[in-house]
Amino acid sequence: MPKRLVYLDNAATTPVRPEVLEAMLPYLGRDAFGNPSSAHRFGRAARAGLEEAKRTIAEALGAEPGQVIFTSGGTEADNLAVIGCALAARERGGPFRVAVSAIEHKAVLAAAHAVARLGGEEIVLPVDACGAVLEDALAAALDRGVAVVSVMWVNNEVGVVQPVAGLAARCGAAGVPFHVDGVQAFGKIPVSLAQVDCTLLTISGHKIGAPKGIGALIVRDRHAVEAIIHGGGQQFGIRPGTENVPGIIGLGRAVELAAREQADFARRVAALRDELERRVLAAVPDAVVNAAQAVRAPHVSNVSLPGTDSEALLMHLDLAGIACSSGSACSTGAVEPSHVLTAMGVPRELGVAALRFSLGRDTTAEDVEATVAVLPRIVEKVRALSAVLHR
Ligand SMILES: Cc1ncc(COP(=O)(O)O)c(C=O)c1O
Repeated sequence: MPKRLVYLDNAATTPVRPEVLEAMLPYLGRDAFGNPSSAHRFGRAARAGLEEAKRTIAEALGAEPGQVIFTSGGTEADNLAVIGCALAARERGGPFRVAVSAIEHKAVLAAAHAVARLGGEEIVLPVDACGAVLEDALAAALDRGVAVVSVMWVNNEVGVVQPVAGLAARCGAAGVPFHVDGVQAFGKIPVSLAQVDCTLLTISGHKIGAPKGIGALIVRDRHAVEAIIHGGGQQFGIRPGTENVPGIIGLGRAVELAAREQADFARRVAALRDELERRVLAAVPDAVVNAAQAVRAPHVSNVSLPGTDSEALLMHLDLAGIACSSGSACSTGAVEPSHVLTAMGVPRELGVAALRFSLGRDTTAEDVEATVAVLPRIVEKVRALSAVLHR
């Protein structure tokens, strides 16, 4: 019998949904391949699809269609928000300084570094053990004056949910643009800008069943950002370049489906996640679920298995047909704990032994079963090897 393959890496990416592919096909072939900036019928057909996708996305997020700026994905949207706000502030004679949380995705952290390299300044806001940004640190940054504050809605490694509504209110009161990276939040928890008064919101297609290479930045104040790439006047000049029409159509359909299914998804996936954690803790009693005490999105579980290292675990799990990811980074050959776990105060020995399981629409109880069936044996094997190596 072929080996059962289990995919528990949905926070990394998801397969394109059949409904999404079907919606995209006319925009790849002869029916509607036109350039949406062309005035002729080919262009108009593409433009009509693009505008429809904007309306769908705006409605799902509680935004206006004119606020939807398409990008090449979450990374570009995050860069546009952070660097674009810094450039706009500098242009106005304001602070060339940005504040980002310590547990942001590299797309935000590296964008903040880029601002510093351009002669500006980056402030990294520390978080508590639950991943929440420390109030005092935010207050101090707002007092100094910043071009933008960027804090993610849901963290991609541990799933912690930030109280973004409160943070948005604090930034709003200080007159500072607030950017939320919603890449891991949309489709997983309720996401509506009617409740969160942020200036900018990032979403990415491939986390919700659209293709890779398409995302959007919701820009609620066009004066807050300046373009970071330059070209024609598309998308109000904020993000010029011929739009990725098939990708946009796919994103629109995926957003529509994800918004409609969010509550059911969350209920089903949270139950599977809880069962996975219960079974792992039963089989490996000294395992630690990271951020277990925090408010978490339903689809991510980050578990440390003491006495192991995550790279070895990943390799053995892959051989057993189970795909997940590590909570650590392998740099220069040595396993280092991730910046997220470190910022949350997780001890190093647990940080280097962390695995991230991320569940998706296709995850089943059998997947959980298959994972817990092999994990204890793999943990034992890696521990034994590690004991020999460190003797
Ligand atoms: C929280 C978060 N932000 C940004 C990104 C980057 O998105 P993309 O892969 O679309 O560039 C990711 C992807 O892993 C993410 O998880």
